Amino acid sequence: MTRSPQISFLSRETAELHRHIESLPIMSQLLDKDLTKTALVRALEALLLAHSPLDNTLRDILPRILPTYRTPPRAPLLISALRDLGQSSFNEGSLQFPPSASLPETLGVLYVLEGSTLGGQMIAKRLEQSSLSLSPQGLSFFLLGNMTPSPWENFLQHIPESPSSQEFLEEMLRGATRTFQHFLTAFSSSIAKQSFRTVPSGFHQDFEMDSLTKALSP
Ligand code: HEM
Repeated sequence: MTRSPQISFLSRETAELHRHIESLPIMSQLLDKDLTKTALVRALEALLLAHSPLDNTLRDILPRILPTYRTPPRAPLLISALRDLGQSSFNEGSLQFPPSASLPETLGVLYVLEGSTLGGQMIAKRLEQSSLSLSPQGLSFFLLGNMTPSPWENFLQHIPESPSSQEFLEEMLRGATRTFQHFLTAFSSSIAKQSFRTVPSGFHQDFEMDSLTKALSP
């Protein structure tokens, strides 16, 4: 499928952030052949910290900004996956995701949310092949991209067909950039909590925080 100029622009301008986020250990380990249950639980917890406030904000703003737009809330799927792995308590954190004020900014936010389901499909395949024997519930978050229509295809239907002004593009990019940064913040707060809980010396914590700090600096 040919990409619209708006998507090509967002893709190009956020490529570095994407490369960074997918290479963070908390994400990259999801593709490991030897992924452990503990590592999967940690990744799901970090994703829950990011998605929970994003779900809440989208529930509030979509009816006003894009009333016909539908996307499944992610927190229930993440909680169901964590339950499937034997976790009985969940920390949804106190992170907020400030509402976007305009259509282009909201489209930028949705670009990141729905785009991430493309990576999810790749992760789901690896998880299916792993020795963890996950149930459909355990996989449901990563299988979102297989819905019909897929969240990504649905999102693409909402991109204006007529060329966008530079101002519109910049506003979309603002929405996308702050959404990637929101994920980085959530992952960093999750890693900090987990390192505090499990690592006696500060080595891993320093390593992870250092790479995150670099990613967050302008
Ligand atoms: C291990 C973690 C991840 C992997 C392996 C991964 C991998 C991928 C892959 C294979 C694609 C499809 C690229 C294409 O079709 O050209 C993709 C797209 C995308 N991913 Fe990820 N991803 C990961 C995590 C994330 C996260 C955490 C986010 C958001 C916070 C994210 C946001 C996106 C976006 C916005 C796109 C659409 C990019 C575009 O085509 O313009 N990804 N990812």
